Amino acid sequence: MAERKTSTKVKVLQTNTKRTCAKKETNDPVLTEKQKILFVASEARPFIATGGLADVVGSLPQALAADPKYDIRVVLPLYSDIKPEMRRKMSFLGNIYVQLAWRNQYCGVFTCEQDGVTFYFIDNEQYFKRKGCYGHYDDGERFAFFSLAVLEMLPFVNFWPHILHCHDWQAAASAIYLKTIYDNRPEYQAIRALFTIHNIEYQGKYSLDILGDLFGLSDEYRSLVEYDGCINLMKGAIECCERFSTVSPTYAQEIKTAQYAHGLQDIICRNEQKLTGILNGIDVLSYNSKTDKALFANYDENDFSGKKVCKAELQKMLGLPVKDVPIIAMITRLVSHKGVDLVKAVAEDILHEDLQFVLLGTGDTKYEDYFRNLGERYEGKCSANIAFNGDLSRKIYSGADIFLMPSISEPCGLSQMIASRYATVPLVRETGGLYDSIKPFGAGGNGFTFASCNPYDMLYVIHEALDAYKNTAVWEELMKKAIMTDFSWLKSADEYKKLYDLTFAR
Ligand code: GLC
Repeated sequence: MAERKTSTKVKVLQTNTKRTCAKKETNDPVLTEKQKILFVASEARPFIATGGLADVVGSLPQALAADPKYDIRVVLPLYSDIKPEMRRKMSFLGNIYVQLAWRNQYCGVFTCEQDGVTFYFIDNEQYFKRKGCYGHYDDGERFAFFSLAVLEMLPFVNFWPHILHCHDWQAAASAIYLKTIYDNRPEYQAIRALFTIHNIEYQGKYSLDILGDLFGLSDEYRSLVEYDGCINLMKGAIECCERFSTVSPTYAQEIKTAQYAHGLQDIICRNEQKLTGILNGIDVLSYNSKTDKALFANYDENDFSGKKVCKAELQKMLGLPVKDVPIIAMITRLVSHKGVDLVKAVAEDILHEDLQFVLLGTGDTKYEDYFRNLGERYEGKCSANIAFNGDLSRKIYSGADIFLMPSISEPCGLSQMIASRYATVPLVRETGGLYDSIKPFGAGGNGFTFASCNPYDMLYVIHEALDAYKNTAVWEELMKKAIMTDFSWLKSADEYKKLYDLTFAR
């Protein structure tokens, strides 16, 4: 296999523009020179979003597409949860049939343009006409179908990417199929696979019994995808891809250890020469305190008076007394790896101070109940909003003073960056992307940080932040540092371009 790869590499480098596929698709000399990248993912804004993955797949392609040297496209499942106004933008290209093991499945292909990026949508009502993107008994089959349909779609839409950029376990099988059952198809051999891990916790694990019957993979590929007695799609993609990456440099180090790797540390270490960590950016046009229409008032680093309006209006809206006490906010999924237990352990101590605490999020019932109860007991001091609400989140990002994000693990984290864009100063645990994006104010940084998973260390730093808040000049300097930190995609998009070159050159 190694030998074949070398020979393919030579072929690719020499005949990149001569590939039959490239000849077929266009006569435009400019277009043939473009680097063609196909993002394969299970969600992307503005079409469908359940988490940070959607933000990245919704904004990185756009940042890359700003460079005329790139032709960036994205493929997603056509979920029925995609809003009708988005559906109306799409046109139907036609349909193909996809052979997943013994199933011959209908596959419609839709397309639309969004911010300079071509999106494709894979339609199959049996798999995607349901409520919610994930959590169904047959998720393995649904995303195996999607991953396979992506490869079958290429000749149909006549787009042959140089790089198939697969995200998380739901798209992992695309990389696996590419390097296994499509390995002997000449037009696919030149395609390189890059696999990006947004969260190693979710790996796509299934019983080995269904390797052939459900995933359509014969026994010769068993060792590629087998891990710990199961099919593990993330493991398979790591083995098959030319390169893999994760969403911050620190997380790339962390996942080599048992503490963070959810069992995959040996696989990561064995493949570490293929691994890169690139910090995510955010959509700085959307998250912009100067222009955001969801805010009660707009403001920038030269004049924070609008932020005061945002704070007062937020207090009114949440039924908190309108006064100048610091507001500590959390916008989070209420799950343990977000550090909710650290907050629980010292919540009463925090609320003992002269401040207000605002929470927005949903998640595990035990945490939802806890915060609901805390909100009732500390009425007028603690506002617990057990909900998922984009508009309210922006009002909290802008109206709060301190943004608390004490994650136990955090591959990248976007909320600390979004809060910064609204001059709300992050207070984070030093892990993953939080460590890479927020540095302690004492050392000239843009926020507050603590290292250990000890609630009292966190409490100590909260007190430090509350002290800093009392000094108007110091706090204004901190707000400026936060709002002026560059969290755009500019730098990271350049790093991805280098990674694409590396992936392609393998
Ligand atoms: C996942 C991670 C989060 C990251 C996001 C986007 O949701 O948990 O840390 O920011 O993906 O990469």
